Amino acid sequence: MDPNLTASAEWLRERLTHPPLVGVILGSGLGDFAAEVEAAVSIPYADIPGFPASAVAGHAGTLVAGTVRRVPAVVLSGRVHYYEGHSMASVVFPARVLGLLGCRTVIVTNAAGGIDTSLRSGNLMLIEDHINAFGTNPLVGANDEDLGPRFPDMSDAYRRDLRAVALSIAKRERIRLKKGVYVGVHGPSYETPAEIRAFRRWGAHAVGMSTVPEVIALNQMGVGVIGISCITNMAAGVLKKPLVHSEVLETTQRVKGEFVRLLTALVQALGEGRSGATEDALAPEKTPRSPTAKEPARKRKTRG
Ligand code: HPA
Repeated sequence: MDPNLTASAEWLRERLTHPPLVGVILGSGLGDFAAEVEAAVSIPYADIPGFPASAVAGHAGTLVAGTVRRVPAVVLSGRVHYYEGHSMASVVFPARVLGLLGCRTVIVTNAAGGIDTSLRSGNLMLIEDHINAFGTNPLVGANDEDLGPRFPDMSDAYRRDLRAVALSIAKRERIRLKKGVYVGVHGPSYETPAEIRAFRRWGAHAVGMSTVPEVIALNQMGVGVIGISCITNMAAGVLKKPLVHSEVLETTQRVKGEFVRLLTALVQALGEGRSGATEDALAPEKTPRSPTAKEPARKRKTRG
């Protein structure tokens, strides 16, 4: 194991009051959810040994740990991007730390451009699957078997049971949650209209410059993933106007109330194991049951 990963996780474990059940990675302009964390310990990335620091406007670069509606959670406000020049190992480092800290589920969020013409700026989209158009993969290089297998299965990367939980929570909260495929690109230039037309033909509904690497790393570790995109703009060529980063931040400001409400309810549901799916997703490791008062030992079947 990368000694920096172990050092980060160890260092954090000493400072967190509860082992986290749920991790949340907040995308560009979506940092407000961190304020929902109660009994919060707030740590700048720069203070965590081995943690890469982010420097993009709208990315605070702070780890906030505590509880959300009584569910122990760790929120990463701000991420490092591949386009900043970080290695793929650095890009997925914080996600791997969430896995090492024991998170059973990680909610990965991002700002994305809408490719599908049924989407509108301000929509929230549940990621059903992704297309990796980074041209590389965070697992390139020697495989660390302690993190997971050499060739991880990606056929249910955004787990179906967890997607069902997200959809039912959105319905209950009366929040419109669209569904679609996210294509992750290298950036930092926005796409050309021809690229967007090509991605549409591939079956992508939204495009962004993050998420895919972390989701691959989390799947390798066997951590459940929920992905939510905030459609901050229509992708290049969809509307006859140029793309500007300020629009991304303006849209996240406009939808932040709904976004925070959805995430809060989702973390609570994941913690409570409200559905069979979440119970399964969050169940502790199976241990042999010991006899209880209701089920005395003598009634149990014994061998020999
Ligand atoms: N393209 C790529 N990344 C993005 C976009 C986009 O249109 N909007 C927000 N992030």
